Amino acid sequence: MNEKRGQWGSRMGFVIAAIGSAIGLGNIWRFPYVAASNGGGAFLIPYLFALLTAGIPILILEFAVAHKIKRSTPGVFGRISKKMELLGWFQTAISFGIVIYYTAIIGWTINYVLYAFKGQWGQDTESFFFNDFLNISDHPLNIGGINTKMLVALALVWLVNYIVLMGGIKAGIEKANKIFMPLLVICLLVITARGLTLDGAAQGLDYFFKPEFTKLKDPTVWIAAYGQIFYSLSICFGIMITYASYLPEKTDLVNNAFLTGLGNCSFSILSGIAVFSVLGYMATSQGIPVSEVSTGGIGLAFVVFPTAINALPNMNALMGALFFSCLIFAGFSSSMSILEVIVSGFADKFESSRKKILTITCLVGFIFSFLFVTDAGLYFLDIIDHFINIYAIAIAGLIEIIFLSWYLNLEDVRQYANGMSDFSVGKWWNLSLKYLTPIVLSIMFVFNTVIDLTQGYEDYDLKSLLAIGGSTMAFILVMAFVLNHFKGQPTYHSSIGKGVDLSEY
Ligand code: ALA
Repeated sequence: MNEKRGQWGSRMGFVIAAIGSAIGLGNIWRFPYVAASNGGGAFLIPYLFALLTAGIPILILEFAVAHKIKRSTPGVFGRISKKMELLGWFQTAISFGIVIYYTAIIGWTINYVLYAFKGQWGQDTESFFFNDFLNISDHPLNIGGINTKMLVALALVWLVNYIVLMGGIKAGIEKANKIFMPLLVICLLVITARGLTLDGAAQGLDYFFKPEFTKLKDPTVWIAAYGQIFYSLSICFGIMITYASYLPEKTDLVNNAFLTGLGNCSFSILSGIAVFSVLGYMATSQGIPVSEVSTGGIGLAFVVFPTAINALPNMNALMGALFFSCLIFAGFSSSMSILEVIVSGFADKFESSRKKILTITCLVGFIFSFLFVTDAGLYFLDIIDHFINIYAIAIAGLIEIIFLSWYLNLEDVRQYANGMSDFSVGKWWNLSLKYLTPIVLSIMFVFNTVIDLTQGYEDYDLKSLLAIGGSTMAFILVMAFVLNHFKGQPTYHSSIGKGVDLSEY
């Protein structure tokens, strides 16, 4: 079966694709704001701590087991212990939940590149986004109609993903990343260079970097740092396991993990510099503090940034188009990795044609993502993203880390990874995975649940949260059980639950 699986053309091809998956919308619109509001420069301490104690150790772990077993996520977990195939399908179902809204956001950014050229968002960018563009309904459960311009862009996004994945690993995903990633970096560097030469950039950077060390005493800052690392590095929902299962025999696992982790974080910091230099200019030109214009997520991308683009002295259209192009390139390189989790999960278990599976997955995914181009699309996106991140990924991550680091002989995994690498990780790696990461993940989960239960999530009423968030969780669980239950090919089942020996190094 392994002969039929794809393989990366080169080690660099894999690393670029892994970094491409990690660098996503989150790096550009989430990291700068999370960092600035959680201690500025001082946030880099918990952030780098989380990267070194959880992010990179988990990357090494996922790379090592996937490299050894060479299966997609359900196959990797199922091979180690038959019952744990279910965890793999749970993570695959999470990926499905993410890809259907991720593609919709990329679609929005395509619309916005066109608006940037025509300066179509006008002066009231907020009203343009919510009323003219989204035609947002008055309640999450009031779905309204489908928005045609968003639907066309969405179809385009699914088509691009379809074409890329149709090419397979080397000629499809690897090649696409080799095009998208340099374009992304070039666009971001141009924005950064322009941003840094604007009046007021220093104020923006001061706000972004100024260290508030007292914040480090606040546990929520540490939780924010770990949360950012998990989502951003694409760990614990199948992506890195899937990607690493396509590695050739000879590779360097530890080095790959460090390159991926550090590449992703450097990019986040560069995004922060780009975003805050432009926001600094905007705040200064309006005579207000940077804190007043600073925001994250959808609001930063579709409301605040267009306002900042309007305020620029020249090259407004170009800068707007470059910013939204960054989101498109970063988005595509992540969406294709999320989609690959699903396609490879099915292809390994059922051994039917990858093309057929891809076609069905894209059609079903496309139909599900209609939800996000309705008048209630933004509400759906916000609530589903929240439930998936706070609950589904946290639970999937916790079970995965406990399972892999306590059920497997972690010392063997470390020797295996070190045996494949130029430089070695020490015993601190075992301690991080066995103790620190599960403890931090448990605290994060309890903390976030308590906040949700006591304060609710944003201003949503309980009925909407339960109807949208609750049914998402139920859907993910049902999908995981059903897919786990289906009978796959005999060769797949005969190898499931056999255990894996990582001690030969
Ligand atoms: N890692 C991807 C992101 O940050 C999913 O958006």
